[in-house]
Amino acid sequence: MSDACNVALLGQKFMGRAHSNAYLKAARFFNLPLRPVMHTIVGLDLISLAPFAARWGWRNYSTAWKEIVRSPEIHLVDVTTPNSMHADQAIMALSAGKHVACEKPLAHTLKDARAMKNAAARARKCRTFVWFNYRRCPAVALAHRLVQEGRLGRLYHLRASYLQSWGGPQTPLVWRFQKKYAGYGAHGDLGAHIIDLARFITGQEITEVSGAILETFVTDRPLAPTPGRDPTGGLPRKVKSTGKSDVDDCALFLARFAGGTVGTFEATRLAVGNQNQATIEINGEFGALRFALEDFNVLWYYDQRESRATAGWRRILCTAAGDHPYAGAWWPDGHVVGYEHTFVNMVADMMAVLAGEQPTVPLPDFADAYETQRVLEAAVLAAKHRSAVKLSEIK
Ligand SMILES: NC(=O)c1ccc[n+]([C@@H]2O[C@H](COP(=O)([O-])OP(=O)(O)OC[C@H]3O[C@@H](n4cnc5c(N)ncnc54)[C@H](O)[C@@H]3O)[C@@H](O)[C@H]2O)c1
Repeated sequence: MSDACNVALLGQKFMGRAHSNAYLKAARFFNLPLRPVMHTIVGLDLISLAPFAARWGWRNYSTAWKEIVRSPEIHLVDVTTPNSMHADQAIMALSAGKHVACEKPLAHTLKDARAMKNAAARARKCRTFVWFNYRRCPAVALAHRLVQEGRLGRLYHLRASYLQSWGGPQTPLVWRFQKKYAGYGAHGDLGAHIIDLARFITGQEITEVSGAILETFVTDRPLAPTPGRDPTGGLPRKVKSTGKSDVDDCALFLARFAGGTVGTFEATRLAVGNQNQATIEINGEFGALRFALEDFNVLWYYDQRESRATAGWRRILCTAAGDHPYAGAWWPDGHVVGYEHTFVNMVADMMAVLAGEQPTVPLPDFADAYETQRVLEAAVLAAKHRSAVKLSEIK
């Protein structure tokens, strides 16, 4: 790898687009020590891959992921396939000596996640990254920094929720509703994000999970269209029109942290009235912080030490170049950023790390994401047995 990093991206839909955009933009907005080169996009069908590659600027496209992850031309393999494919693809890439960036959650089972963590530990020359991209929202990165600086003092409470509403009974049985592909429902999809945010901002690990409820409200869903079998894109003929969803629609649990903080977590796809509302609030000895994803550029800060006459929640617009993480790479102050910028910021940080430099904020690797996966697993067990589960029991 000279000053260029050849990337192979596996997956070409939602995250495939988000990551393509990030590789396209990163070197234009950041001064990178290493330039990402969009070498090969990998998917399942050539018909859609050709226009995708042309639109986003991928030099090559392929349906043969095993061949591509072993290609000597590739330096970084980026995995954006459904959760159950992460382990096979990431482990094969690591054994071929590639750096690997993998989407969250790390895997669909704890066993696969552990295998990925162990493979990463064995591949000493390879770096691993996990796309917990919300860490790279400037407001979240600022929250992390303020807590590390001790601005909140001892942390008492953490309240995290991730509320979406797209998972009603009319939503088809896509892979996200099937345990064999997804492993978990809202818990792994949305819960993983807020668990990572909580660990990242507080700098504390979760030590115990209790009071967990994982609920499946919608058990039968319309079968997803299979365009490959039916040119009209409709349902294939002579098959039953609904199938079983066997993952949670929502997950709630309580948590204790190593530093003594106590927390609540809620993740759901059925919180009608909320579209993509991830919220985290932390209350400490000297103050409090609050972030809400739908108010992306803002961090709320309350300073308990101010005079009660003028104390109140302060709305910080996190767009000041030089003062707020990542802001200097983007637009003049107050010219707000959005969802896609978290991915571009992440590519910039990955390139810095691969060139031996420091990222703007710490990047989660497979070992770090495994800690989040252990918390997911603890909540599953706590819900199943209706009892508290210590993280020391989850190896
Ligand atoms: N970081 C985030 O905010 C975020 C958001 C959404 C999804 N995700 C994660 O990203 C991953 C993908 O989710 P998505 O929403 O992009 O799913 P998606 O269904 O939109 O896309 C999945 C892609 O994987 C491809 N694919 C499936 N099997 C493949 C194979 N064997 N080889 C190559 N490609 C294959 C499919 O063709 C499709 O292009 C999941 O792990 C999900 O949890 C993360």
